Amino acid sequence: MDSRFIHSIHSSRYDYKTENESSSGDEERSSKYSFVSALCMSGGEGDNSYSTNSLLQRRALAKAKPVLVKNIKELMMGLSFPKYIKVADLGCSSGQNTFFAMSEIINTTNVLCQKWNQNPPEIDCCLNDLPNNDFNTTFKFIHSFKEKNLTCKAPYFVSGVPGSFYSRLFPRKSLHLVHSSYGLHWLSKVPEGLEKNKMSVYITASSPLSAYKAYLKQFQRDFTTFLKLRSEEMVSNGRMVLTFIGRNNMDNPLHRDCCHFWTLLSKSLHDLVVEGLVSASKVDSFYMPFYDPSKEEVKEIVGIEGSFEIKDLEAHEYDLGHCNQDGSKRSKSGKNEANYIRAVSEPLLVAHFGNAIISRLFNKFAHHVSQHAGCRNKTTIVDEKETLVLTNELNNKILAIHCKSKDDDLGDHYLAVGQSQEYKFRDNLWHTTLFWCHMGQGPDYKIQQVFEAYRSTWTKYVGYTYWIGREDGIYFRQDPHGLPLVKRYDWNLTAY
Ligand SMILES: C[S@@+](CC[C@H](N)C(=O)[O-])C[C@H]1O[C@@H](n2cnc3c(N)ncnc32)[C@H](O)[C@@H]1O
Repeated sequence: MDSRFIHSIHSSRYDYKTENESSSGDEERSSKYSFVSALCMSGGEGDNSYSTNSLLQRRALAKAKPVLVKNIKELMMGLSFPKYIKVADLGCSSGQNTFFAMSEIINTTNVLCQKWNQNPPEIDCCLNDLPNNDFNTTFKFIHSFKEKNLTCKAPYFVSGVPGSFYSRLFPRKSLHLVHSSYGLHWLSKVPEGLEKNKMSVYITASSPLSAYKAYLKQFQRDFTTFLKLRSEEMVSNGRMVLTFIGRNNMDNPLHRDCCHFWTLLSKSLHDLVVEGLVSASKVDSFYMPFYDPSKEEVKEIVGIEGSFEIKDLEAHEYDLGHCNQDGSKRSKSGKNEANYIRAVSEPLLVAHFGNAIISRLFNKFAHHVSQHAGCRNKTTIVDEKETLVLTNELNNKILAIHCKSKDDDLGDHYLAVGQSQEYKFRDNLWHTTLFWCHMGQGPDYKIQQVFEAYRSTWTKYVGYTYWIGREDGIYFRQDPHGLPLVKRYDWNLTAY
């Protein structure tokens, strides 16, 4: 189980800092753990790519959406509807997730400007990641991003900014909004002083306290650098929304959940040592450049660094969905989790251990997830439910509806004019949920239509999906922020 923090930080004061004071991330990377320079997510769109295996991070983006929306609104109002805003997504990675955040920013800005009768600003969308990142795969999604924002009046421009967010990336006082999701738990380097932390790629219950202290120190350095650099780059009254992995437990800093992904990775590497495929010394010189801080640690760093004020700090809990499942479901979840962890760690692992062990390593990982006894008694913390709403806005006719998915038949319902039927369901974590609905007009139901009512994709995690039957067709809306209804289907005259 991991905890995520959503921080909305707005810049409140500006200390003058010299260039010499800012440390360079590239410098940090040239430590003795040279594999760190390979840090990036698995590129491309194949089965093992980040693009294919980043639904969990999409969920995190969806959870952070209210905080993001709130901050965009406050930013726009606070700056009296500027003509231009520059927005950065730091650690955008490869794939479409970054566009989820950018769409939200553009749409919210657009709707707000409409509401206040203001011209929408030109929006400069800067997508940043490390130079090794597969930006090509990201930019391939620009087309669908533009399609999604067709009705949007705010002109926007997308560009890539390669470089470490632990170095200066933008000119002084140029950024209005900084967004970063699931990037800041990655450190600029492996901390010094982990030698006693044997056969473990991260902190575990059996690690020496010195390992925790070393990781915390590195996080303090990195996060302080990050804040200091952003305070130079951001305009006065700018906003920052940061989401990253954190931990809940404060009492024992060594405590990591038994199913913690790095603990399972350490176990899997240990299996390969036992099989003679990897040497123990090789495992002993591999550590994840990663840290999951507690809320208190984050607050302390922000306070000491001093450039920003925390407006909202939220912690959300969830696991990867493999607990409380039996048999084949657990085995499938094991594979899913293995794919997810592989997508974020394969480049680092390949740089240190080589290619040959990777598939075997993640087969072991999947096995550990599905077999882990401790997981079976844990409570799975469930995510929010999706809601599908079908409404009759016909003139004086009954509307018959019938929705079903692969697993659920929601049955026949007959709606009077003005009546709605609401279905709540939990989207599965791996986003394969698909609902089809039929609508038919009374009294003979010959005028009808069958349509895809809900398909879970990154663009459609919004909470509410509305379908409305009207005389001239079937209308759709899938956003709680007041976007207009769009006619999606005409009626058919053939029998259902
Ligand atoms: C797990 S991905 C998250 C991507 C995306 N924000 C999302 O929500 O799906 C983390 C990204 O942060 C990037 N990253 C890690 N350290 C970084 C740094 N110092 N500077 C820029 N990007 C970094 C990684 O390369 C990776 O693409």
